[in-house]
Amino acid sequence: NKTSNQMLIIFGASGDLTARKLIPALFNLYKDDHLPEKFVVLGVSRSDLTDVSFRKKVVTESSYLEEDLGKEEKEYVDKFADKIFYEDLGKSYDTDYTNLAHRISDLNTKYGTENNYIYYLSTPPNIYETVAKNLHKQGLTEESNGWKRFIVEKPFGYDLKSARELNNALHQYFKENQIYRIDHYLGKETVQNLLVTRFANSIFEPLWNRNYIHHIEITNAESVGVEKRGGYYDKSGALRDMFQNHLLQIVSLVAMEPPIGDEAEEIRNEKVKALKSLRIMKDHKTIHDHTIRGQYLAAEINGEKVKGYREEEGVDPDSTTETYAAIKFFVDNWRWKDVPFYVRTAKRMPTKVTEIVIHFKSTHHQIFTDSAGITNKDNQLIIRIQPDEGILIKFGVKVPGQGFKVERTNLDFYYSSLSDTNLMTAYERLLLDAMQGDATLYARADEVEAAWEFVDPILDYWQNGEDVVTYGYSAGVWGPKNADELIDGLYMWRNPGE
Ligand code: BG6
Repeated sequence: NKTSNQMLIIFGASGDLTARKLIPALFNLYKDDHLPEKFVVLGVSRSDLTDVSFRKKVVTESSYLEEDLGKEEKEYVDKFADKIFYEDLGKSYDTDYTNLAHRISDLNTKYGTENNYIYYLSTPPNIYETVAKNLHKQGLTEESNGWKRFIVEKPFGYDLKSARELNNALHQYFKENQIYRIDHYLGKETVQNLLVTRFANSIFEPLWNRNYIHHIEITNAESVGVEKRGGYYDKSGALRDMFQNHLLQIVSLVAMEPPIGDEAEEIRNEKVKALKSLRIMKDHKTIHDHTIRGQYLAAEINGEKVKGYREEEGVDPDSTTETYAAIKFFVDNWRWKDVPFYVRTAKRMPTKVTEIVIHFKSTHHQIFTDSAGITNKDNQLIIRIQPDEGILIKFGVKVPGQGFKVERTNLDFYYSSLSDTNLMTAYERLLLDAMQGDATLYARADEVEAAWEFVDPILDYWQNGEDVVTYGYSAGVWGPKNADELIDGLYMWRNPGE
């Protein structure tokens, strides 16, 4: 794909994300020769910085870049830094953008970026509309002479109503195909590989339905707590922070029908259909019976004292915000009728891992048993999103010797053994895609709204229900015990590494 000459304008550029994620991603793209010949980054924010001090902050003095630099790479740094500029917006984002417009126009003329602009919003979401409105006022959303794209970070909305309002607000200034909603999980190689696993392999797709799949389990665990983001997290919780976006995106890729091709709209149309098929839990009793909410408590892990959630900085000492969420739900369509999906996400788990487990039904006539006399277990396809990216298949083999005893064994593939190809980080991939105008890995307005539509009643019940319980769990364990009861029958959560 060709990347046209362009300018990347980052709003909120003095914040953490620019130095931590965006600049390192751009630097790698630069090193690997993915940036167009004519390319400029313009940082914009309310901090009193100049081109020189901004470059220092995000490039030359940024530990995020320095850490990874080999000797010969250092020589690139200065050349790369020359592409970076800064414009101080003054006290507020809701201000006169005339100076900014002049600056953009000057840089555009001087560096030949052909009026192609990407606006990257690395600001709190309540600023998105303001920035869009002011850009529009300056004619900077106009595409008659070059394209304009608008990238926004998560969270996109706080609930269905606010997400709709935000979509409507942005659509006043940008067309939907100009808006790129980031979900960094879609930038992960293994998440994209879900499509290939399903639709490029005839050994999986014919079985990928209610006839052969017993249930689906998705685990997203982090060992860290809320770190320094207590203030934000306490108003958000696991359901908004991870489930509504990253996990439902994964669900949509697992559940979707085959797209007719690999174009952004073809894939996103199928994802939306899958999200719209999620069975919305309407009454409190259903939500009560299908969800588990937890919050981590202080504990000692490997001799180290770990704070409980309520002791974290920025968190209300009486907070009932969940750091653990487990949800059982159904996808009401032809393919998935009555197949339970179990999805959980949490902080302060024993390890950091994200994986999908497809549990296939057992063979319908059981002839063999294992050494303990138990009939043979189900087959599992385990898709490791991170770490140890790869795919594991669990299947039965005969134990050597007399008789027909069955033992379950592993067929295991690791991405790391594939080749010496450097996997792009999520931000590299997503930035490059947006630079090339490919929105496949970005969430569309209707996707985001469909996901909120499913999550909204749960949020409402968790906030207003009379019998809502937030279970405590010690930091460093696999969540509250009660979550085990969510899974039907003899099945248990698969706790990787246990
Ligand atoms: C972010 C959440 O979107 O994803 C964080 O806001 C979380 O709370 C992070 O830690 C996890 O991302 P990853 O890529 O490390 O799994």
